[in-house]
Amino acid sequence: MTQYFFALVNPEVESLFKLEMKLYYPQMKLAYSRSGFFTFKGGDEKKFQPLMCRLSGRCIGKIDLKDLKAPFWAWKRTEELNLSPELTQISDNTWFKIGETARLLMMVGENEYWLGEYELEEDHLQTPGEVSFLKDIDSPSRAYYKIAEAAEALNLDFAEGVRVLELGSAPGGASQFLLEQGCEVIGVDPALMDPKILKYPRFKHFKAPFESLTERSIRDRIDWIVSDINLPPTVVIKEVLRLESFLQPKGLVLTLKLNQDKHLEHLGKIISQVEKAGFRIFVKHLPTHRKEVALIAWRS
Ligand SMILES: C[S@@+](CC[C@H](N)C(=O)[O-])C[C@H]1O[C@@H](n2cnc3c(N)ncnc32)[C@H](O)[C@@H]1O
Repeated sequence: MTQYFFALVNPEVESLFKLEMKLYYPQMKLAYSRSGFFTFKGGDEKKFQPLMCRLSGRCIGKIDLKDLKAPFWAWKRTEELNLSPELTQISDNTWFKIGETARLLMMVGENEYWLGEYELEEDHLQTPGEVSFLKDIDSPSRAYYKIAEAAEALNLDFAEGVRVLELGSAPGGASQFLLEQGCEVIGVDPALMDPKILKYPRFKHFKAPFESLTERSIRDRIDWIVSDINLPPTVVIKEVLRLESFLQPKGLVLTLKLNQDKHLEHLGKIISQVEKAGFRIFVKHLPTHRKEVALIAWRS
């Protein structure tokens, strides 16, 4: 029997997602798509986990609401669409555990519903369609959302007393999140930090490029290295691996910018470099991500 698959893709990333499909899933054929929602025919189910989408899974097909049975989560493709109060209520009261098959009702258009399912894994968010659980945060940048979503998805232990070296920290969205959790943060960036971040006594600004950091510049213990530097991933990884070799953090949270197509092609090599350095890795496209992915790694 022919198997179909779905993927939910942030609109800014669709061209990169299509490139990924062409490069890594050439056997799969596009079946139906609307902006943000794609279905494909064929291929090997176990291997359908594209990186450039928030969520992927098996596509059961279009569904008539009268044939739908709870439990399910419900997601809508655009803000303009309205899920009925009944569907919203069922979705709000549904909770899937890791290892269970999550069922997702996808409202793709007016009176157009599709059903999908996927195994809920360790790095999945507990939100329908892997949308952000955050709204209207007053922060100097979008990076607040990115680090908060990574922390939630992978249960990262950013808490009081945890020391974070944050590379590319200006203007300070991610620092704000980390400081709110009680972390001590060393922000490294030649650009200016937002004054509200500089007010935290637990924040230190190293106003220089990260390439200039040496063993002598950081004497504190470092638990995590976080990076959001807007340089090519190959450059960021080379420097992060240099820093981690003497700082020995327990983990890394790296936002890798994929602004050019070739950066996507470099990802596989980057992942093996970080694995070889002794880390266990997750690569995840977070709800607030644009052309970027988070590489989250723990020393194994
Ligand atoms: C996307 S912004 C970071 C946003 C930031 N993480 C936040 O939470 O607001 C990218 C940052 O990388 C910094 N950057 C670029 N090259 C750098 C380098 N060689 N060393 C340190 N920072 C650098 C830029 O100055 C810029 O502030």
